[in-house]
Amino acid sequence: MKSRLLVLSGFFAGAALSRDSSGAVHPFAKYKDFAADSAATTEAPAAPTQSALECFQVAEPVLTDAGLTRRDISKPPAFVAADQTPIGPEDNEKLEEACSVVLMERVFENSYGAPYVGAYVPPPCDFDHVTVNFTTVVKGRQYDRTGVMYFTDNEVWRTSTAEPTSYGIRWEWLKDMTPFLSLWKQPQTLVFDLENIVDNTYTGLLNTTLTATFYKAAGKTKESHPPADLIIPISQRIGNGDKPSQFVYPASPAKNTVTDFPRNANRAVFTVDVKGQGNEEFWWSNVPQSAAHAFEATYGEYPGYSPFREVQVLIDGHLAGVSWPFPVIYTGGVVPQLHRPIVGIQAFDIAEHEIDISPFLPLLCDGKQHTFEIKIVGLVDNGASSASLSTTTDDEWYITGKIFIWLDDEGSITTGTVGAFETSSPKITLSQHLAQNATGFNESLEYDFSIERRVHISSQVKTQKTKGTVSWTQFLTYTNTGGVASYGNYNLNKFLISGADSASGPGVTYATKYAYPLFANSTYDVGADGSVSLWAQVDQGLQVEVRGDAVFPSGIEGFVATGAFKTGKGKTGSITRTWRNGTASYYRPGDNSFSRGVGQTHQVYSFSGIGSNGKVEELYHRDVSAFNDTVTADHSEVAGR
Ligand SMILES: *[C@@H]1O[C@H](CO)[C@@H](O)[C@H](O)[C@H]1NC(C)=O
Ligand SMILES: *[C@@H]1O[C@H](CO)[C@@H](O)[C@H](O)[C@H]1NC(C)=O
Ligand SMILES: *[C@@H]1O[C@H](CO)[C@@H](O)[C@H](O)[C@H]1NC(C)=O
Ligand SMILES: *[C@@H]1O[C@H](CO)[C@@H](O)[C@H](O)[C@H]1NC(C)=O
Ligand SMILES: *[C@@H]1O[C@H](CO)[C@@H](O)[C@H](O)[C@H]1NC(C)=O
Ligand SMILES: *[C@@H]1O[C@H](CO)[C@@H](O)[C@H](O)[C@H]1NC(C)=O
Ligand SMILES: *[C@@H]1O[C@H](CO)[C@@H](O)[C@H](O)[C@H]1NC(C)=O
Repeated sequence: MKSRLLVLSGFFAGAALSRDSSGAVHPFAKYKDFAADSAATTEAPAAPTQSALECFQVAEPVLTDAGLTRRDISKPPAFVAADQTPIGPEDNEKLEEACSVVLMERVFENSYGAPYVGAYVPPPCDFDHVTVNFTTVVKGRQYDRTGVMYFTDNEVWRTSTAEPTSYGIRWEWLKDMTPFLSLWKQPQTLVFDLENIVDNTYTGLLNTTLTATFYKAAGKTKESHPPADLIIPISQRIGNGDKPSQFVYPASPAKNTVTDFPRNANRAVFTVDVKGQGNEEFWWSNVPQSAAHAFEATYGEYPGYSPFREVQVLIDGHLAGVSWPFPVIYTGGVVPQLHRPIVGIQAFDIAEHEIDISPFLPLLCDGKQHTFEIKIVGLVDNGASSASLSTTTDDEWYITGKIFIWLDDEGSITTGTVGAFETSSPKITLSQHLAQNATGFNESLEYDFSIERRVHISSQVKTQKTKGTVSWTQFLTYTNTGGVASYGNYNLNKFLISGADSASGPGVTYATKYAYPLFANSTYDVGADGSVSLWAQVDQGLQVEVRGDAVFPSGIEGFVATGAFKTGKGKTGSITRTWRNGTASYYRPGDNSFSRGVGQTHQVYSFSGIGSNGKVEELYHRDVSAFNDTVTADHSEVAGR
């Protein structure tokens, strides 16, 4: 059955959301500006038949109505063509009949304050799984833009866009939206906010299509935790006014008072979605607060609050958990030529950190109102070896949160005793050195941060069917050895976050381990004649292991549903390991009459399943290289094929 629903669209004029902030500008943010120039001036005009460059984020295949669907089919170089057989229903039992709905067809032009707005009603077909396909074509010159999809007050997906070529760029992103099933079952105001600006210089119109496919696969993905029964938004809650509900922090505190928390909850998980903008976009390379003005005379003010950020979740003012964010680098980041056609890790799908707040259920189920707040903090330091958490950050962060809740039968009331918070302040070790030249100008800064934190809470919780100790534990470490040289124009960071989170209780187990290594070395030279040269090496990795009852798909679902992963009976998990290494350069002369740049990127991506017996099996592997906007080598294997 194919059904196409009518989607109403509205257009709302309004002021741009971005705000002016302090005079500080990170050099990477300046580079983004040049990206656009390069797109406009380096490339030969398109031959009439030249098709758009296919751009992609490397990721494992995803479960759709067609089975396990590869995201790398669109770029098959000749030598792997034979390898491109999709693993799908022909190998397995057919997934039940699906229906598809076009949710949005919209060309985003001057769309600050003018999101796409549509009325979503559930399609007339039976479904327990939903996948969306977001496809965009853009041509000309444009920045990287942020896109956020909301169902009324709940953010369901945050993405960013690729920077175009003169002959066009195109990408698709497929996302398993099954965790939001309870929202898909109800009418919603669909707000898709994609803030674009088009003028004589920035000509790229973002031509987008968003489709959703609904199908049944429940019997085949038994390994995963069922989707939450209820999702409570922690957001501005202005979706019914056809507006995007994110908080813009720190201008507005990210806080809600919840008056209707259900008394029959048996599990609750808080997820946070954050994106740094402006002086916070390259937070992982910001300087110690004490050095924000160190290069004022030669470079200008630097964004501060240190290269460390902590996202805190507070319930009634108590710290319930933290997220040390993954440093997503968007397609204009550092040097734009690093990101075409292979975009950075999470550029098309920013992951939300999960914090299990089930130990708070005895409090949250008391029938009273409770406050939920998300704070982002950095560090303030004394210019030497002492630092502590700041109370705010520079401008600005886009923030939303959600509470995913699983319910017992109506009438049941969860009780118990909330345990003590064994959460200490982070342990911060810092050294820094600022060097001057012979006439007293600050020439370079070196710093070394090392931070550790443990979060733990353990409660006695009695639900309808279970009774016992429920706990949440996090252990995180952070190191960053970095610096600024050449009077403000060179940046170096060796950055690593590692963490382990776990939730345990009578009904639920969840554990994740993660590591976010990043090495970035970049130089920025302005010649006496005004010419600009950029160069950067950026090596970035992501390692994530997930076991048990995660809110979001761990990626294993499609392999289990199609039988590609056979050890998937009972609770499973997955391990994702990827490295993405690149170098890029950029040059333009003082008169800005042309610019040229070239980048090369190599990414290796490995995805493995963890069976209920603990056995680890690699299910997807891709090794892809690009040079000067062209894929030069690409090899991938799905479940050994
Ligand atoms: C995603 O949508 C685009 C445009 O609507 C379509 O061309 C493409 O085939 C779809 N991709 C998949 C995997 O279904
Ligand atoms: C947007 O894409 C659609 C579908 O490919 C096409 O028909 C339409 O002409 C495009 N619009 C613009 C303004 O490029
Ligand atoms: C050097 O940096 C220090 C610390 O930020 C600052 O107080 C001082 O004014 C700077 N010196 C110059 C010449 O800019
Ligand atoms: C120190 O740096 C300043 C700013 O770049 C420069 O004007 C001055 O000539 C330098 N002094 C020496 C001795 O190099
Ligand atoms: C950073 O790049 C510069 C310029 O290419 C190079 O001289 C320097 O050795 C690099 N530093 C590291 C730590 O790789
Ligand atoms: C990327 O660089 C890191 C260290 O800088 C190295 O360990 C890793 O093997 C490299 N990966 C790729 C895919 O080149
Ligand atoms: C990159 O590609 C462009 C356009 O195809 C070409 O003109 C240029 O020479 C290439 N650069 C390098 C370094 O290969």
